[in-house]
Amino acid sequence: MKVRKAVIPAAGLGTRMLPATKTVPKEMLPMVDKPVIQYIIEEAVASGIEDILIVTNRAKSAMDDYFDYYPELETRLNQAGKDKELFEVRRAADLANIFYVRQKETRGLGHAISRARRFVGDEPFAVLLGDDIMRAEKPVTLQLVEAAEKYGASAVGVQKVSTEAISRYSSVKVSPLEERIFSVSDMNEKPSPEQIFSNYAILGRYVLTPGIFEILEHMRPGYGGEIQLTDGLRELSQHSRMVAVDFEGRRYDTGNLNGFLEATIDFALDHPASGPWLRKFIQQKAKEL
Ligand code: G1P
Repeated sequence: MKVRKAVIPAAGLGTRMLPATKTVPKEMLPMVDKPVIQYIIEEAVASGIEDILIVTNRAKSAMDDYFDYYPELETRLNQAGKDKELFEVRRAADLANIFYVRQKETRGLGHAISRARRFVGDEPFAVLLGDDIMRAEKPVTLQLVEAAEKYGASAVGVQKVSTEAISRYSSVKVSPLEERIFSVSDMNEKPSPEQIFSNYAILGRYVLTPGIFEILEHMRPGYGGEIQLTDGLRELSQHSRMVAVDFEGRRYDTGNLNGFLEATIDFALDHPASGPWLRKFIQQKAKEL
């Protein structure tokens, strides 16, 4: 079982980051010197993915433009001898084979994923949520791909979160298989404290078998009146094998302001162009606070 395709749902309205996201897709907000979605595509590529489908909507065409060539700009950079900038601009456009499909109505994550059926066909595929950036030594998607291949299963990426926080995510019923890998038998979306199966929450990464599409077709709206991927996965876990991977790495939810700022600071500290300067700036600031 080789995972060659990935789907990135990026059709949300970005309501937690308004007004910035009124005309700029949240996936295109700059994270230091690249848009958020580029980190996600780079993780997919580093995990062996070749073809990527981005599920967009009518307000997101800046994404297609970003991953396209821009001859006028490239000629100008070339003439000005700006080789580094030219290289980076081209590199973004050549990262992967990127395809797009529009989710014509905002009906939830499960509905967005169901738009990928024709693209995926009859193969396992990865899902990377468009606003969850991971910082990890081994790409998180690759950690899931390896577990999925080993167990011939679908896989969800989980981490333990606090009991207060889990109602913002999904809770997974798990039993241990080996270090950091569990078997999954049930799950629910946005559980209330009495509904929690465990403190393991799914955090933005999945490897799914194509059987999910048949399930999503007949899925009724769940939490928030939307077609929930979690409800579909629950059914998938009852028909076929599913594992949860307690992945190694740090996840940032760039779809809310605090998560976005945490990621910005961590990535800027790591970046050679800004790291040394930012370290000094933060030290100075800390003295003033
Ligand atoms: C989505 C999923 C949820 C998951 C979360 C974090 O929720 O529906 O199961 O735990 O992402 O990856 P959302 O953030 O869209 O409310």
